[in-house]
Amino acid sequence: MIQDAGAKTTPTHIVREEPLLFERSRPGRRAYVLPALDVPETPLEDLIDERWQRQDNLAGLPELSEVDVVRHFTRLSSWNYGVDAGLYPLGSCTMKYNPKINELVARLEGFTEHHPYTPEDLSQGSLEVLKQLEELLCEITGMAAGTLQPAAGAHGELTGMMIIRAWHEARGDPRRKVLVPDSAHGTNPASAALCGYEVVTVKSNERGLTDLDALRRATDEHVAALMLTNPNTLGLFEENILEIAAIIHEVGGLVYMDGANMNALLGITRPGDMGVDLLHLNIHKTFSTPHGGGGPGAGPLMVTEKLEPFLPLPRIVRGDDGSCHLDFNRPQSIGRVRAFYGHVGVLIRGLAYILSNGAEGLRAIAEAAVLNANYLARRLRDVYEITYDGPCLHEVVFSSRRQEKYGVKNVDIAKRLIDYGFHPPTMSFPLIVHGALMVEPTESVDREELDAFVTAMKEIDREAREHPEVLKTAPHLTHIGRLDEVAAARKPVLRWRPTPSEGRASEGK
Ligand SMILES: Cc1ncc(COP(=O)(O)O)c(C=O)c1O
Repeated sequence: MIQDAGAKTTPTHIVREEPLLFERSRPGRRAYVLPALDVPETPLEDLIDERWQRQDNLAGLPELSEVDVVRHFTRLSSWNYGVDAGLYPLGSCTMKYNPKINELVARLEGFTEHHPYTPEDLSQGSLEVLKQLEELLCEITGMAAGTLQPAAGAHGELTGMMIIRAWHEARGDPRRKVLVPDSAHGTNPASAALCGYEVVTVKSNERGLTDLDALRRATDEHVAALMLTNPNTLGLFEENILEIAAIIHEVGGLVYMDGANMNALLGITRPGDMGVDLLHLNIHKTFSTPHGGGGPGAGPLMVTEKLEPFLPLPRIVRGDDGSCHLDFNRPQSIGRVRAFYGHVGVLIRGLAYILSNGAEGLRAIAEAAVLNANYLARRLRDVYEITYDGPCLHEVVFSSRRQEKYGVKNVDIAKRLIDYGFHPPTMSFPLIVHGALMVEPTESVDREELDAFVTAMKEIDREAREHPEVLKTAPHLTHIGRLDEVAAARKPVLRWRPTPSEGRASEGK
């Protein structure tokens, strides 16, 4: 099916499986056999009242041998694609490799066995780790303080919006508008709206940057804040950030930066030096822990000194002797936004990542991430349109416009990439690029893999011109072919259910 031997991998180990083979249960099969009793048997009724005794497999659970179970799950795991398998260029998700040392550190018993209700004086280890992380994030971002409570990036945004509201209210000047450029991440307007603000969209200019004239026109004394994704979702740095911040500050508004794309800026520049008043970070993008898999994340919110009193409570504060305490006495705080300390496991991974890379390592990460994205842009720009072309930062957004002449859409290109052994890029986002294919290679990919990706993308372009039907029906080499995405969204089958008529289980119906 795949005609190019130059593509990274041809996953020949994957063959379509008959659906029936999914079901391997056979009545009476067991995972273990216990030896005959060598002590007197206690009758079951003496142990459990008859009413509560389970009858023979009423729940319809699958009956399998141990080897059946191991092979079933091992087989399923090989049907997935993950960051440990290869390039995962899902733009805006920073799907970088996560060093295993972070896992090891996060799983230390002292952390995993630490109950969140443990009194403060017996929690010094965990509190110290969290405080250290906050202090390092302050240093990295140039901000004065932060909270680690938010459970994800969007949660950090909402926390930021609540602080903005509390700050304006405390000054007796509640405001109603939040400005959001059209190149912002989609969660930005959603967070502002959720907090009760009227969202005003600001247009980008022809280079994909915030249009300063449009910004000036939209800015007045009703503006509570500007929410600026920087670098924006086109992978472009808002080079007029100082002027942008001045325009907003002039009317008494605050500048919120969506710092989830901080991977591109680490060690190079700091939001605190650009006039930013508050920002969130995505630990699960920039500081290890894979994003996009649906697992837990962490979206710390960092603020300047004037906003510190509004941070969620409790704050972890250091005493004169260096020990850490939980401070609940904060009358201006917006209150708690998450139970206990937030997602501590993710935060520990983040700290391990920062400490193991050090300041120079963090800068090298940003440089490599930017270099890799620009390498792909340079090698593919003759084949795929780049609507907003120019030096990008951590990601590059291609368009499928040229391939559409042959009836091929961005989704077909993305699905065909799976056959070539790559995870698809983010599709149809940002909305300001027609047929967007948003590619973020990250720093943890080598030159050979970037070249293999380029080869695959060029082959797919050739196929679009010569055999477009191959793309329109891709993927061809996975267990499950092209999905009916509407049905998958409207009638999702999310779990296995037993089929009572057969007395055993079958794949979800
Ligand atoms: C730029 C940007 N902002 C905000 C978010 C939202 O983060 P989360 O998915 O953790 O809520 C993301 C997620 O990828 C992002 O890329």
